[in-house]
Amino acid sequence: MRIGVLGTGVVGTTIAGKLRELGHDVLIGSRSAGEDAVAFANAAAHGELVFNCTNGNAALDALSAAGAENLAGKVLVDVANALDFSEGSPPIIGVSTGDSLGEQIQRAFPEARVVKALNTVNANVMVDPGVVPGEHDMFVSGNDEAAKAQVAELLQEFGWPRERIVDLGDITGARGQELYVALWIRLMDAVGGPTFNVRVLH
Ligand SMILES: NC(=O)c1ccc[n+]([C@@H]2O[C@H](COP(=O)([O-])OP(=O)(O)OC[C@H]3O[C@@H](n4cnc5c(N)ncnc54)[C@H](OP(=O)(O)O)[C@@H]3O)[C@@H](O)[C@H]2O)c1
Repeated sequence: MRIGVLGTGVVGTTIAGKLRELGHDVLIGSRSAGEDAVAFANAAAHGELVFNCTNGNAALDALSAAGAENLAGKVLVDVANALDFSEGSPPIIGVSTGDSLGEQIQRAFPEARVVKALNTVNANVMVDPGVVPGEHDMFVSGNDEAAKAQVAELLQEFGWPRERIVDLGDITGARGQELYVALWIRLMDAVGGPTFNVRVLH
């Protein structure tokens, strides 16, 4: 598949690398085109599906640069977290308890088919869940069932078992996925590193 990965940080490069390994045709998007990246708009235009791996505080700007016309009708996998370090660390997590970045993106780009996914684990776990022993869960949310099904297929290519992909419903599920990062940060300290995940037992 042709895929646009917006973001040149560890997440964008990790996801792009894995997608290329799997045989997908990937362009990485950045504010400034360079050796390894093209402009956000070119990467988005290239993708039949687009990943948003930009800084959460700048994601709406980055997606505006990508262009609504280049996102319209496409699955947009939102991996971003809004982290506010203005008052130090740990950061303030999320955009609000009654909203989420995922919802803001869906509202700003109503023709994009936004699916929130992968934001609850470290980059290395996103593309290789086997680095965490045992079974553990990946959460997805979004308004478009077919879009979520397409993302679930890609997640399975990354190594996530179908039965460990937990559908949280519409895009308001992103509130929980994003606010969970407050717990994730404490868990990272508690377990001594970022290579971990959670499993929901019931
Ligand atoms: N690190 C992890 O393991 C992890 C795990 C889960 C979720 N996340 C989330 O994934 C996203 C990517 O994280 P990251 O650590 O890879 O990278 P990051 O440093 O948070 O973001 C890098 C990307 O954001 C773009 N960017 C920064 N400021 C911008 C602005 N003012 N306008 C437009 N674009 C801007 C950069 O553009 P340029 O290419 O032009 O520099 C770059 O492509 C974040 O939202 C993060 O919270 C990260």
